Amino acid sequence: MKKFDKPILVTRPYLPDLEMFKAGCEEIWKNQWLTNNGPMLNKFHSEMANYLGVSENNIALFNNGTLALELGFYAMGLSGGEVITTPFTFVATSHALMRIGAKPIFADIDPVTMCLSPEAAEKLITPQTKAIVPVHVYGNCCDVEGFARLGEKYGVKIIYDAAHAFGARLNGKSIAEYGDMAMFSFHPTKLYHSCEGGLLVFKDASLQQKLFDLRNFAIHSETECVDVGTNAKMNELQALMGLLCLKDIDKLLDWREKIHKIYLESFKGFEDVTYLDLSLNKAYCPILFKDFNTRERVYKDLKEKCNVYARCYFYPLLTDFAPYVYAKNTCPVAEDIARRVLTLPTYYGLSENDAHNIALNVKEIVGK
Ligand SMILES: Cc1ncc(COP(=O)(O)O)c(C=O)c1O
Repeated sequence: MKKFDKPILVTRPYLPDLEMFKAGCEEIWKNQWLTNNGPMLNKFHSEMANYLGVSENNIALFNNGTLALELGFYAMGLSGGEVITTPFTFVATSHALMRIGAKPIFADIDPVTMCLSPEAAEKLITPQTKAIVPVHVYGNCCDVEGFARLGEKYGVKIIYDAAHAFGARLNGKSIAEYGDMAMFSFHPTKLYHSCEGGLLVFKDASLQQKLFDLRNFAIHSETECVDVGTNAKMNELQALMGLLCLKDIDKLLDWREKIHKIYLESFKGFEDVTYLDLSLNKAYCPILFKDFNTRERVYKDLKEKCNVYARCYFYPLLTDFAPYVYAKNTCPVAEDIARRVLTLPTYYGLSENDAHNIALNVKEIVGK
């Protein structure tokens, strides 16, 4: 078994060229503008729209993904209603709903994609349902057609938590174009980042001014405060980091693809591990074991014997956490998968050889 000299974490933030970052800082210093719609943010806004292939009127940037979600949900009028979502995600998805006074109703996931199942979601739709919030978990694509059908049939909004899915494309267009709204997280643990940051992409351009107001305390003009907003503005340094990482996005996607291929190849024909080949952007590399005990053993031995810090994303399930226990034991597929899944390290800079050795270690531990 290979023990790595230095710890290998599940991910590592990408750092763009330092000289370019310094040059960007010089520009910021000259502008003497640090936040509140500065020139760097405006440039980032334009380049982001251009990258996604959407109009500049249909996006808004925020200081993190959680507040982007929260304000997106609020602007869509979800407060006071029920929203059907998945328990197999990071807590921010349902925290953002709870914090604006919407009630998360948890439906089970599809056993293959691990994303919310439209069939399971449909069974829980009531007159109180205002929206469905599926998550493109790991960059795996939700059944976008199934959800579009539900949206039309029941008149409910489809809002994707696409935190993991930046750079993902489907049918020749960005995944951002599916649903009424999609949120991307630019946290440094993600494939692409802006130190911290979040992005909303929405169909209805009339939401943009509302979101711009909400991210700035709902101050609409010098003399008007139009709602109860918050401070969710992206600052100039974040925008600079976002711009520089965006220049390198193809390189970041290609590297993830390369690591994915190593894992795929290494686990081929190894029956005790299912390597999931579904992610559109290869943001994460999840594997499934046959049972909970094997997953626990591999997680522990990788850490203690190999210096490899894989993570059990997403375990426990949201419905095991205090704010959501009202829905405990209602999603058997998600419960089963959460107990068997492990996400392996992947990031720009992880060598193919290291990925190969990580996979060998996993196989050796399973075989013991
Ligand atoms: C599925 C999901 N939703 C929402 C978020 C929140 O994003 P942020 O960390 O940018 O606030 C994250 C990640 O952090 C996430 O994984």
